[in-house]
Amino acid sequence: MRQQYRFCSPTRILRAVFPVLLFAHLFSLLTLSRAFAQTPIAAALKPTHPNSELSDSAIEARVEELLKKMTIEEKVGQLVQYSAGQPTGPGTGRTDYADMLARGEIGGLFNIVTAKDTNAFQRIAVEKSRLHIPILFGLDLIHGFRTEFPIPLGISATWDPQLAERAARVAAREASATGIRWAFSPMLDLARDPRWGRVAEGEGEDPFLVSAFARAYVRGYQGRSLKSAESILACAKHYVGYGAAEAGRDYNSTEISEHTLRQYYLPPFRAAVDAGAGSIMSAFNSLNGIPASANAFTLKKVLRQEWGFQGIVDSDWTSVGELMNHGIANDGATAARKAFQAGVDMDMVSSLYHEHLANLVHSGAVSEADLDESVRHVLRAKFALGLFENPYVDEKKESSAMLSPEAVTLSREVAEHSFVLLKNDLLSNGSPLLPLSDDIKSVALLGPLADDANQMLGSWGALGNGRDVTTLRSALVKKLGGTRVHFAKGSEISTASDAQIKAAVDAAKNSDVAILALGENGPEMTGEAASRTNLDLPGRQEQLLEAVAATGKPVVLIVFSGRPLILPWAAEHVPSILAAWFPGIQAGPALTRTLFGETSPTGKLSMTWPRSVGQIPIYYNALNTGRPSVQNDATPFPNGHDEKFVSRYLDESNLPQFPFGFGLTYTTLRYGATELNKSELRLDWIKEGLSNTSSSAPTPLQASANITNTGSRAATETVQLYVRLQGTSVSEPVRSLKGFQQITIAPGETKRAVFSVPSEAFAFWNDQNIYSVEPVRVTVWVAPNAASGTPAQIEIRNKAN
Ligand code: NOJ
Repeated sequence: MRQQYRFCSPTRILRAVFPVLLFAHLFSLLTLSRAFAQTPIAAALKPTHPNSELSDSAIEARVEELLKKMTIEEKVGQLVQYSAGQPTGPGTGRTDYADMLARGEIGGLFNIVTAKDTNAFQRIAVEKSRLHIPILFGLDLIHGFRTEFPIPLGISATWDPQLAERAARVAAREASATGIRWAFSPMLDLARDPRWGRVAEGEGEDPFLVSAFARAYVRGYQGRSLKSAESILACAKHYVGYGAAEAGRDYNSTEISEHTLRQYYLPPFRAAVDAGAGSIMSAFNSLNGIPASANAFTLKKVLRQEWGFQGIVDSDWTSVGELMNHGIANDGATAARKAFQAGVDMDMVSSLYHEHLANLVHSGAVSEADLDESVRHVLRAKFALGLFENPYVDEKKESSAMLSPEAVTLSREVAEHSFVLLKNDLLSNGSPLLPLSDDIKSVALLGPLADDANQMLGSWGALGNGRDVTTLRSALVKKLGGTRVHFAKGSEISTASDAQIKAAVDAAKNSDVAILALGENGPEMTGEAASRTNLDLPGRQEQLLEAVAATGKPVVLIVFSGRPLILPWAAEHVPSILAAWFPGIQAGPALTRTLFGETSPTGKLSMTWPRSVGQIPIYYNALNTGRPSVQNDATPFPNGHDEKFVSRYLDESNLPQFPFGFGLTYTTLRYGATELNKSELRLDWIKEGLSNTSSSAPTPLQASANITNTGSRAATETVQLYVRLQGTSVSEPVRSLKGFQQITIAPGETKRAVFSVPSEAFAFWNDQNIYSVEPVRVTVWVAPNAASGTPAQIEIRNKAN
C-alpha cells in the first residue's frame, strides 16, 4: 500500500527546514563533504483517517450524547478491562466483576469463551448498569479460535497474505458466535532474534512482509464492516519495539534509534492503522528508557498526530502497573497518570485506572477533556461494532459456527503453504528423497511430535482442542495402512531413554525411509515467556536423529518449532528437511499430502535461519559496515586466508544456515538476469509518484526476470524484489524487500516475473528522520531469496543527463 504524503506550503517548508539547511550548510563547509548531494523532500506522513466507521458522523453524535450523561466514574469504567477467564498472566485477585459491571465500572472483559458466559456478563452491563453500555469481549485469537491454523510465523512463511486474511475471517466468524468482538491480534513485532519465544506469534524480520500481513489480518478480522455480527475489532500489538528485546529475553528493554524505529519497527503498525485497525496494544518493553505503555512519543505524536489513529489504545496485561517496576512510578496513582497521559486509553488487568483515575481527574492532575477523549475511543468502537443494538449472541447458533468443513479445509491449505522445504538432496539413484512414492513398502515414523495432538496447536490455542487435531501418525496410517507405518516415539521432547532410542533405530532398520518428527514443545518452549539461549533440538533428540541417520536409511526430518532452530549437523547430513512450525488441526493431512507429493512445498522463510546462536541477531536487511566480509560459502576462513580485520567471527561464518526468503520445492527453477526497463530515474518522477498528485505520473520502473522450471513438476514460486540504495544520507541495508509475487510455472516452461517498482521502493527515513528520496544508486534484484539473484543497477538523478 502506498504511503501518504502531505506537501507543506513553501513558507512552512522554509520555516521548518531552515535550521536544518543552515546546519547542513555549515557542516558541508566544515567537512567539505557532499552535503548537497541529498535533497530531502519536506513531506510528512499524512493521517489517513482510514477507518471511516471510527470517524463516522452519526457515531460521533451518539458518542457525544452519551458522554454528556456520564459521570467521571462511569467514564473511567469504560477504560477498565479485566480477564475473567483462564489467566494468561499475573492476576489482580478480583472476582467481583458482576458487581462492578452493575455499577458501570468495567468497559471490557476477556478470556471468556462461551456464548452463555458472555451473554451473562453482558446482561448485567446492559440491564443493570445506569447507562446500559455494553461491554466489549476480547480474546487472544492468535491463529484461530476453534479451527486452529498454523502459528503466525508459519502463516507468514506462506508469503500469501490472502491466506492470512481468510484464516482471520474464520477466526472472527467463530469467535463472534460466542460474543467475542475483539481479537488481540495481529502481532506485528518485527523480530531479528529467534531466542525470543514470541517470534512464533509474528511474521518475521522484514517490515515490508510484516506490513502485508498486517493489512491482511485487519481485513480478515474486521471484514467489510465492523457492524457485521461476524466482524471483530483487530488489535495491532505490541506497540512498539517489543521484538527487539535485548538478548532475546522476553519483556526485556529495547534501545531503538528513531531512524530504526521509523524505518523498520513502525511501518507494520502504520500499515495496520491505514487498513483501519480499530485498536492497538501498548507493549511491555521500555523503549529507549521510556516504557512503551507510557511513551507519549510513540502513542501520541506518532500514532495519534502523525497517523490520525481514532481507535482504542489498550495496555498489555498489567503493563500500566509495571511502570512501577520500570522505575518511572513509585505508586499506582503515578503509574495510572503516566500511562494515561502518554496515551493509553484502557488499562488491561492492572486495576489502576479503576483505583486512581477518577481521583486524578477530580484533583485536576488529569484533565476531564483528556478523559473524554479516551472514552470516545472506546465508545466509538462499541458503536461501530453495533454492540448497542445487538449486545447478545444466539447461544443456539454457537456450536454450529465452529469447525465448518470449509474452515477445516482452509486450515489444511494454509498449513501446506506454510511448510518450508529447507533441503531435499538427490539420493544415489539420482532422484531427490522427497516426495515419497505411494508404492513405498514401509516407513518408520519416529519422534515425539509424530503423534502429539496438543503440540500441533503451538503456544496460543484459544479454543483449539487436541481432539480436533489429526496427527501425522494418524494421517500416515490412513494413507499407507497400519502395517506399512512402523511407529516408535524414540524420545520425549526433553528426555529419552536408551531403550526409546533403540526402538526407533530398530524401526528405521526395518523400513525403507525414516521420517523423524522432532522439535520444540509448542506450548512450553515457544510464545510468551519462552525465551531460550540454546536453540538446538531439546533433550536427546539430536542424538536420536544421528542414531537413526547412522542406520543408513534415508531420513526426512520434519522440524516442529516456533522459531528457526540451530541444526548444523542435520543441515549437513540429513537429505531432506522440512520446517513445519506448528501446523494446527490439520497437521497430519497437510504433512502427508506434502510428503507424498499430492501438493508441493511453496513456503519461504520469513526469518533468517542461523547456523549458531552466536550469530544472533542475524537478519538479511543489515547494513554493510565499513569493513564488510565477503563470504560466498560457509567456511569461516575461506581458502584459509580471509582478511582478519573485517566484520566477521573467528570461529563461525557470517552466513546464515538458510537465508530470508529461502524455500525449495519439488522441482528446480532457474532465474535469469534481472532486467530494468529504464536506464535512469529522475528524482522529480519519484517525488511525483510518492505524492501521487500528478495525473501524468511517469510509468514506474519495471524490474523483471525470466524463471524457468527445469524440473518435472509444476511449481508455485514466490518471486522476490529487492533493492539496495547507495550514496544515501544514512546507510541503507545491503538489501531490502520491496515486492513479492507468486507465479505458477509448468515443467519446462519459462515465465517472466515483472514488478512495477513503486516510488516507495526508493524512499527511506533520512538523516533528519524525514521520509525522503535522494539521488542515489539503486541495485535491484529479482530473486528467489535474499541471498541470490543477479543485480541490475540504475541511478536516480536530480536532472536528466
Ligand atoms: C499478554 C500478551 O503480551 C498479549 O499478547 C496478550 O494479548 C495479553 N497478555 C492478553 O492475554
